[in-house]
Amino acid sequence: MARLDTASVDLIVTSPPYNLGIAYSKYSDRQDRAAYLQWFAEWAAAARRVLKSDGSLFLNVGASPSNPLLPHELVMQLRASFVLQNTIHWIKAISIEDDVGEPTSRGHFKPINSPRFLNDCHEYVFHLTPEGKTPIDRLALGVPYADKSNIARWDHTAGTDLRCRGNTWFVPYETIKSRDKQRPHPATFPVQLAVNCIKLHGIERVGTMLDPFLGIGNSAVAAQQCGVPKFIGFEIDEAYLAEAKRRVDEAARVPSPI
Ligand SMILES: C[S@@+](CC[C@H](N)C(=O)[O-])C[C@H]1O[C@@H](n2cnc3c(N)ncnc32)[C@H](O)[C@@H]1O
Repeated sequence: MARLDTASVDLIVTSPPYNLGIAYSKYSDRQDRAAYLQWFAEWAAAARRVLKSDGSLFLNVGASPSNPLLPHELVMQLRASFVLQNTIHWIKAISIEDDVGEPTSRGHFKPINSPRFLNDCHEYVFHLTPEGKTPIDRLALGVPYADKSNIARWDHTAGTDLRCRGNTWFVPYETIKSRDKQRPHPATFPVQLAVNCIKLHGIERVGTMLDPFLGIGNSAVAAQQCGVPKFIGFEIDEAYLAEAKRRVDEAARVPSPI
């Protein structure tokens, strides 16, 4: 990142290692805690340098049931570089009651067997910005009003049947048959999560996008699907990087609608 020009990036969408002991093939995810927190602040400062003043950093961080404060501790580490502008909950799985009270479950999560902890069905996406004033395109992720009388009731609708979705995003993982072949990495986010971030920042305002922790390239595939002109990614594991390149090539051959 030190080789990139200052204020040259519009949007960063990333998910760094969480230091929770995830079994990556090369990177060791069990660093000394103080050193990890220091490193976290350092890469974020490097990210801040390359980001434009009206840019966005969407930082995906998960927790573990026995370490629930971690995402908040990490955000606190970033206060020297960024303002927390929005906190988004990435909902991986949810159970809701239908109109007759029958529960329906959607999405996937890794179940745990515990006498004290709940299954963990969400992660955070922190929207961090240099000044807390980055404009966003709320209606790019808009949803129709459930109660149509609201369209006329509120002036800000300007007569359109679209409201801000809010900060809970249900984005399930794709159902896969072979993890090794289809998702050969232990800690990915879905392409759609990164697409949402690009749309919220404003597709037209993204000239250059960066992911400093590329993994198998879900952010790069999202950038390609959204027509982002320039994407930069870093990954220390060559096997993950090769898979990222393969997936980007495949996405170029078989475009998906966003
Ligand atoms: C949580 S994963 C990112 C997964 C990615 N979002 C995806 O969907 O595929 C974090 C990645 O950071 C990589 N990594 C760790 N330290 C790094 C460093 N200093 N520079 C670049 N990549 C690094 C790890 O190898 C791992 O693939």
